[in-house]
Amino acid sequence: MTGSSGRLLAISDLHVGYAENRALVEGLRPDHDDDWLIVAGDVGEYLHDVEWVLGLLADRFARVVWSPGNHELWTPRDDPVQLRGEARYRHLVDLCRRLGVRTPEDPYPVWDPDGDPVLVVPLFVGYDHSWRPPGTWNRAQALARAYETGVVCTDEFLLHPDPYPSRDAWCRARVIRTERRLDAERGGLPTVLVNHYPLVREPTRILRHPEFAQWCGTDLTADWHLHYEARVAVYGHLHIPRSTRYDGVRFEEVSVGYPREWRRRATPPGRPRAILPTLAGQLR
Ligand SMILES: [Fe+2]
Ligand SMILES: [Fe+2]
Repeated sequence: MTGSSGRLLAISDLHVGYAENRALVEGLRPDHDDDWLIVAGDVGEYLHDVEWVLGLLADRFARVVWSPGNHELWTPRDDPVQLRGEARYRHLVDLCRRLGVRTPEDPYPVWDPDGDPVLVVPLFVGYDHSWRPPGTWNRAQALARAYETGVVCTDEFLLHPDPYPSRDAWCRARVIRTERRLDAERGGLPTVLVNHYPLVREPTRILRHPEFAQWCGTDLTADWHLHYEARVAVYGHLHIPRSTRYDGVRFEEVSVGYPREWRRRATPPGRPRAILPTLAGQLR
């Protein structure tokens, strides 16, 4: 379809290991020729699945912007590509570049359909166990509580931090690198910040299992939405799609999630969320 009013759209947690979710991806199409699509991680676990999804979407949308989820960074024992940690991430970045998909390692694209430019910033910033469950005061206690309650993220077994000593250290290195880049390259533009994980802790307060929050983000990004003048902060991972506001900034969780989750929702599954332009009546 042709059109002059492209939109910046977003979706995440496509989890195409599920046949029902693959069908949703096959139905994902732009409304306008110049629609962009943000894919905020958890496309799937296998590299061939990630390649299929991002290739299909890159053929359909004017631009695709990707942030990695924890599932892309797993090294499943039966994936022919056994790369781990940073090497796996770099392999995914190379794959995206072949497909024309923007990654956190590329120049940040400017969304500017109407003379109001916004920098679209895909991030790769993980977690560091700073979002600890109530009554725990350090990482060891937080992790011990998770094991006691049986709420342990599969990342502990499949997401390797190589060559970093821990996923926490990898996260801290990414935070430093990203702050440096944003400070140098933002040029005073407002942003759309895209990360698989929420940049602030508040969205995790409604998790059914508070022990899981330690795998969901870091305190180190708590002021990024203000400091980098975010018009919108886009995230996924929690599988609790919703729109909220923190400090006056729109946060959009755009997860599809697993079939058992989206079947329970009243809204149709697999529809991308409109991020920009801001609809009339929405506050900036
Ligand atoms: Fe997910
Ligand atoms: Fe995730």
